[in-house]
Amino acid sequence: MAIQQTHSAPAEKQVHSATEDFDLFQLPKTYYDNPYPFFKHLRDNEPAHVNSDGSVLLTRYDDVKAVWRDLSGVVNREAAYREKFGEGPLLEQHTTSMLFRDPPDHDRLREVVNPFFTQFGIERLRVSVHEIVAKLLDELEDNKDIDYVADFASRIPIQVICDIFGVPRADGPRIRDLGAQVLFPLNPAVSAEAIAAGHKATAEFKAYLLDYVNFWRSQPVEETPSNIISALVKAEKSGQQISENEMLHMCILVLNGGHETTTNLIGLSTLALIQNRDQFERMAMATDASVVAVGIEECLRYASPLQLQGRRTTREVAIPSGGTIAPNTEVIVAQASANRDERIFDSPEKFDLDRRPNPHLAFGAGIHVCLGRPLARLEASIALPAITKRFPKLDLREGLSFNPNARFRGIRTMPVTLG
Ligand code: HEM
Repeated sequence: MAIQQTHSAPAEKQVHSATEDFDLFQLPKTYYDNPYPFFKHLRDNEPAHVNSDGSVLLTRYDDVKAVWRDLSGVVNREAAYREKFGEGPLLEQHTTSMLFRDPPDHDRLREVVNPFFTQFGIERLRVSVHEIVAKLLDELEDNKDIDYVADFASRIPIQVICDIFGVPRADGPRIRDLGAQVLFPLNPAVSAEAIAAGHKATAEFKAYLLDYVNFWRSQPVEETPSNIISALVKAEKSGQQISENEMLHMCILVLNGGHETTTNLIGLSTLALIQNRDQFERMAMATDASVVAVGIEECLRYASPLQLQGRRTTREVAIPSGGTIAPNTEVIVAQASANRDERIFDSPEKFDLDRRPNPHLAFGAGIHVCLGRPLARLEASIALPAITKRFPKLDLREGLSFNPNARFRGIRTMPVTLG
């Protein structure tokens, strides 16, 4: 047994529930529409749930945090991914990028891109994020009915991340499309077609980026790199240990991280604001930056755009809810569930922009904690007050649908009227 539970099953376990046969590898459509009742059931009844492949799903806050902070857990899962993806560019991406590397390689790679994502580095983007949002809002004025994700939420982060990479904003849609195909196969159960598409998209993505790497290689080294690609080339030219493949896979990771999750944050948060009209007004009326900042933390907790993460144990790990996980076990931590854990948050299903304290885990914890968190916070803190102020009657129309993606929760279509 991968896990030895020491606590006894509570009485509610006997009550029939839709989650009784829960398996991450066979999720029903209702899960994608709303995973939170499933998480609650697991938290209450089976906080360390064993999936059909032997992996352990942790849903309580303290357990999730303990595994994330445990430095003995590793992220490299080359053997499992080779079996899942087969050889090729997709396997290379998900074993070469720093998200799937352990120290010391992880730290060596993170150091190269870190300067772009410090609070100071991100602050320099404030004016251009304001400009992007203002321009989009002006364009929307003429269209009463729009798709909120396609026409607004997705268009902010992609433009910003293109700027950070020094690639044309016009390439944004192609980058989004390739990124989605690279990321989707990280889900628990994926088809052979999705894996093949992931390999093809990764190869195309690499070829696209290599042109830029070669361009910067042909230029004099910039003393203060103006974009991430030139910074990677500077590291290469100055003799730091970094291979061409590491550079390309780093670019794919950061480009993907830079738009997909933030698009989902803006989309899901706006949905929550529409569904909680008093909070919508609170966001629209906020004039104090600290009120907005506290509100964005609640959006992050409530939306949790990245919902699940993986670690592999290298030793026996005791988990706070009781029991131990055996070495060499795949552990899936559900931060989306941790962020609704009633043991930590009062009335966790309530969307409360004034919630304090709010120790959510939306950005992870430990050495892989989200690199781009200041950027995500900046974009949301400009976009959400701006849209709610400009369109106070913003409302849903028929046709809301969610992506069938358990890891990256997001909205597929969100028809709205601007009022
Ligand atoms: C709301 C938006 C975002 C959320 C919820 C989010 C969430 C996360 C989480 C949970 C992790 C940890 C993964 C793990 O422990 O395995 C992570 C890592 C990462 N994120 Fe984000 N992220 C967001 C936005 C961004 C942005 C805007 C960027 C880049 C521009 C970014 C780049 C990254 C990178 C590169 C890593 C890997 C860090 C490492 O392995 O050291 N993320 N993110």
